[in-house]
Amino acid sequence: MADSKSKRLLTGAAAVAGGALSAAGVIGWRRWRSRDHAGAAALPPGQALITGASAGIGEAFARQLAAAGYDLTLVARRADRLEALAAELSAAHAIRAEALAADLSGEEDVARVVRHIEGLDDLTLLINNAGFGTRGTFAEVELERSLDMIRVHLIASVALARAALPGMIARGAGAIINVSSVAAFFASVGGANYGATKAYLNVFSETLAAELRGTGVKVQALCPGFTATEFHEVGDYQGFDRAEIPGAVWMSADEVAAESLAALRGDRVIVVPGAKYRAMVAASRSPLGGPIRRAARAVRRRWRKG
Ligand SMILES: NC(=O)c1ccc[n+]([C@@H]2O[C@H](COP(=O)([O-])OP(=O)(O)OC[C@H]3O[C@@H](n4cnc5c(N)ncnc54)[C@H](OP(=O)(O)O)[C@@H]3O)[C@@H](O)[C@H]2O)c1
Repeated sequence: MADSKSKRLLTGAAAVAGGALSAAGVIGWRRWRSRDHAGAAALPPGQALITGASAGIGEAFARQLAAAGYDLTLVARRADRLEALAAELSAAHAIRAEALAADLSGEEDVARVVRHIEGLDDLTLLINNAGFGTRGTFAEVELERSLDMIRVHLIASVALARAALPGMIARGAGAIINVSSVAAFFASVGGANYGATKAYLNVFSETLAAELRGTGVKVQALCPGFTATEFHEVGDYQGFDRAEIPGAVWMSADEVAAESLAALRGDRVIVVPGAKYRAMVAASRSPLGGPIRRAARAVRRRWRKG
C-alpha cells in the first residue's frame, strides 16, 4: 500500500507541475477538442494491425479505427475476445476485422504475425501495444517474466515494425505507433526492466522517425500515464487496489487512444497523453525533477512490495 506521505508527494508534484503548465494545457485541450478526433484520417484508408487488442488501450484503438473505417487485424492471446470484438466491429461499421491469436512472447507466434503482415498490401497502421507489468524489484521477479517482457515489448515490436516498413515505404504512406509509457522517463524502483523496455521504444521510435523522414511513413512512441485498463488487474498485479492511486491521475483508454490518433496529424514522435502527464515529464527535466522522481520512486517502491 502506498503510504499517505508518498501519495501526498505524488499528488503535490503533479499539482505543482500541472499548475505550471495548466494554461498551456487548457489551451491545448480546447484546440484538440475543437478538431476532428479521427486523427487516423491523416493516413490513407487501409488496414490497421493492433497487438494487445483484446483489452484496454488496444481495444480502444480498435473501436476508434473501426469507426473511422479502417479494416483491422486484432492480435493477442485471448482468441475468444478478439473474435467477439472483430464480429462486433465488422457488423457495426461495415469493415473487415480479423482475429489473429498469438502469444507475442513466443518466437513462432511472432513469426506467424510477421508472415501475416508481409501478406498484406494495404497495411496503413501498425500499433505495437501488447504489454504487461510486473511487481517487485528486478532481483525479485522471475527471470522468465523479465525476458518475456523484453520479448513482448521489444522483440515482437521490432520484428513487426521491420515486416511492416517495406510495404509502407513502397506505398509512401503509413504509421507505426509503439506504445511506451511515462515510465520511460523515470528510473523508478520496481520498474527496472519495464522502464528500460519503454525507454528503448522511445529511442527506437525517435531514431526510426528520423530515418524515415521524407518517406511518408510516421512513427510515434505513445507514452501514457496511469490508464484505467486491465493492466493493473492481470498477472502480477492481481489483488492490486486501484484506489491506492489518486483518482485524478487516471486517464481512460479512450482518451489515450484518441490523443494518439489525433497526434498522427502532426509530426510529434514522443506523444504523452494528458496535460498533467506532459507537465510531469517536462518538469522531470527541470529543477522540479528531483522531487518528482523521488515521489515516483517512493510510491512505486511501496506498490512493488505489494
Ligand atoms: N494501463 C496503464 O496504466 C499503462 C500506462 C502506460 C503504458 N501502458 C502500456 O499500454 C499497453 C497496453 O496496456 P493496457 O493498459 O491496455 O493493458 P491491458 O488492458 O492489460 O491490455 C494488455 C494487452 O496486451 C496483450 N498481451 C499481453 N501479453 C501478451 C502476449 N504475451 N502476447 C500477446 N498479447 C499480449 C493482452 O492480451 P491477452 O492477454 O489476450 O494476450 C491485452 O490485450 C502496454 O504496452 C502497457 O505497457 C499502460
